[in-house]
Amino acid sequence: MVYEKYESSDFEKLIEVGKQSYTVLKEVGSHIKPGVRLVDIAKEVEAQLKEKNLTCSFPVNISANDNAAHYTPSFNDPRVFSDGDVVKLDIGGRSADYLSDLAITVDLSGEHGKLVEASEKALENAISIVKAGRKVSEIGKEINSTYAKYGINPIKNLGGHGIAKGELHAEPFIPNFDNDDDTELEEGDFIAIETFATEGEGYVIEGDYVQIFSMVREGQLRDAEHRKIMDFISKNYSTYPFAMRWLTEEFGSEFKVKSALNEMASKGMIDAYPVLVERSKGIVAQTEKSMIVERDSCTVTTE
Ligand code: CO
Repeated sequence: MVYEKYESSDFEKLIEVGKQSYTVLKEVGSHIKPGVRLVDIAKEVEAQLKEKNLTCSFPVNISANDNAAHYTPSFNDPRVFSDGDVVKLDIGGRSADYLSDLAITVDLSGEHGKLVEASEKALENAISIVKAGRKVSEIGKEINSTYAKYGINPIKNLGGHGIAKGELHAEPFIPNFDNDDDTELEEGDFIAIETFATEGEGYVIEGDYVQIFSMVREGQLRDAEHRKIMDFISKNYSTYPFAMRWLTEEFGSEFKVKSALNEMASKGMIDAYPVLVERSKGIVAQTEKSMIVERDSCTVTTE
């Protein structure tokens, strides 16, 4: 797959989007408390991004406990945070094709401080060695050696990624352990490093819950209502991930939206992103920042 990479003339805008997104993450993250509805946190992120003239580069992920990623609230989602939850808030801002991708973990239980600290410290250490020519496996090794000091495991099938114009998850994959991948970062690369730390075995599998999708291509749909929904997706989200909730808010009926997505899925027009669950039910913490790779270091955009 060939992606259009960012150029140095794009960096100022990436830094602006990153900075604004970080303000939103910090502010809304502080509102995650027992009894608060997940859907209200998601809507608050969206509203605050909108105030800054940004949209979402992907639906707000609010994944708790052994859910590592891809939980976004449904339209009438009744879920509230409980006082035992370890919550990952993973958001992305977008202005045209300028993107950010960033996450924090909020431990409402007060019992997983070490796990959260391992994930934060691992990201900090990883960022400190980012530079042009750095192998992605060396970043993974740095992350995992930080985890080891805490007696915590990496999630081996999740990690960071390159970000390109119109493509949130571009190459290279940046692992949380030494995976022997000799791919080197290049000057000017825009990447997100995400450290997923767990008390479990360190492997995620797909769960049943699916609320996030992205359009792969347009195609022929028999139903006029379905076509309207497809056109809306294409116009508003292009190939970026979207939430079923957003469509239900626009079209009023979750049933109609599901029916359109089903037809699109059956024709290979959309990809689905089911919730990712730690296989051994281990609690997961995640920390993420976006950055521009430089010759001898990097510039973090999301702080
Ligand atoms: Co990411």
